Amino acid sequence: MEIIIRPDAGAAVELVSRLLAMRIGNKPACVLGLATGRTMEQLYEHLSQQTISWQQCRTFNLDEYIGLTADDPQSYRQYMQQHLFSRTDIDVQNTHVPDGNAADLKQAALDYEQAIQAAGGIDVQLLGIGEAGHIGFNEPLSAIMSRTRDKCLTPTTRRQNAAMFGGDAERVPRRALTMGVGTILDAREILLLATGKAKASIIAQAVEGPITSMVSASALQLHPNCKVIVDEEAASGLQGREYYDFVFHNEPEWAEFRD
Ligand code: GLP
Repeated sequence: MEIIIRPDAGAAVELVSRLLAMRIGNKPACVLGLATGRTMEQLYEHLSQQTISWQQCRTFNLDEYIGLTADDPQSYRQYMQQHLFSRTDIDVQNTHVPDGNAADLKQAALDYEQAIQAAGGIDVQLLGIGEAGHIGFNEPLSAIMSRTRDKCLTPTTRRQNAAMFGGDAERVPRRALTMGVGTILDAREILLLATGKAKASIIAQAVEGPITSMVSASALQLHPNCKVIVDEEAASGLQGREYYDFVFHNEPEWAEFRD
């Protein structure tokens, strides 16, 4: 795992945006794992202004609320449409979001796993992090080997996501269909983006704490190619930052990203 600390949210977003643009430039038919949430809105804003073609990309979103139709304004399908897909030349046929409105959720979950396999697996998985440590909607106690499945949301998550439902946590669906932690760990590269003070404690637990299913993001410590990009505020609980900064200033990979 590598931790990249940028001075502010804008700089963290810019770095992830440039990394993703490079990956798409190097492999135009790449398979991307995509995330939602407020943090990603800034990233997609930046990304959609880059001069890259998404025409050959295939995408798989992490999760979707159960019970919302794909055209529901609060669904993650609509979120993606609004914040990214409609602003790029991506072929919507190549974009995948779990079907949270499927009559048979178990089958929908299996189909999603098979679709990822059929695409050749995920090249780059983008992640945010919830305040309870979730990646996707893998709430505490999600098995580290879990696959795509339906999952009950925690009250913390429903409160955290209430803003998208008129500020009312009760209106946030109780369940979601989400890639599993194991599904996420199968990606060939993982980029986690977190910004702001509210993420400082959970980032410290995920990065420097023990690997535990109580903090799903801590499972990323098992991944051989995972980068965590944070701003100063989200980095403020980290103990080892002197070393993380040293790595950033000395690894050749980061030369073009240094100021
Ligand atoms: C939702 C998504 C997660 C994401 C989280 C972060 O809960 N299901 O995948 O990590 O939002 O949200 P925010 O960026 O709004 O803090």
